Amino acid sequence: MSPAEAQAHKAEIEAILGLGEALGLNQGLPYTRHWSAAPDFLALLVEHLRRERPAVIVECGSGLSTLILARVCAIDGRGLVWSLEHAPNCAAQTRDALARYGLARVANVLDAPLRRYRLDGEAYDWYDLIGLPSRAIDLLVVDGPPGSLGPLARYPALPLLRARLAPGCTIFLDDADRPDERAIVARWCAECPDLMLNRPATERGCAVLRCPSQGASEAL
Ligand SMILES: C[S@@+](CC[C@H](N)C(=O)[O-])C[C@H]1O[C@@H](n2cnc3c(N)ncnc32)[C@H](O)[C@@H]1O
Repeated sequence: MSPAEAQAHKAEIEAILGLGEALGLNQGLPYTRHWSAAPDFLALLVEHLRRERPAVIVECGSGLSTLILARVCAIDGRGLVWSLEHAPNCAAQTRDALARYGLARVANVLDAPLRRYRLDGEAYDWYDLIGLPSRAIDLLVVDGPPGSLGPLARYPALPLLRARLAPGCTIFLDDADRPDERAIVARWCAECPDLMLNRPATERGCAVLRCPSQGASEAL
């Protein structure tokens, strides 16, 4: 690791510990360098939860973000999280962290093995949605599956979940500065022109897309 990388890593850990402390998460965090959501992305999510108070939160890719989302929901007394996770070891780690903080009633980590979908003639490996309750989603956080699975690995989130998005639903996409994620956002916006796109400045890039408040399902 170069000195600059080491400095950036140290700053990231300090920011995550600070976020954890602010939320009373003092018994360890399921943090993994390169894999956990970045602290500035997590801070934006916390801000969104506090402002919008979403009732139903669905996440693609569990871990530190699941714990943070669950903790804010528990503190604020509003919101339930369903996190789709394809890797059993990651699901177990996230469940352990949730249990340690007494948050298992607020967040469910769903075992969601990847299965093959065909969308517009292209094949994608994406989460099996069999365990996801059919409740309208107010907040969708897209931080999985890993981009290494193939081109546009996170693209299916919108086409496969859009019929379940509540009016005014907000979608947060992490790592949005990567070429793949840029292409995904461009495709989502082309396919759903009513989505309102914001790109708050974060270290790894973030895209926030908002569905229209009324008739979202029809408009999308
Ligand atoms: C970007 S990570 C999701 C991170 C999660 N949202 C968080 O904040 O911790 C996307 C997926 O990568 C996988 N993953 C997490 N840590 C990993 C590791 N150390 N090695 C390989 N895959 C990992 C998990 O399946 C996870 O759902």
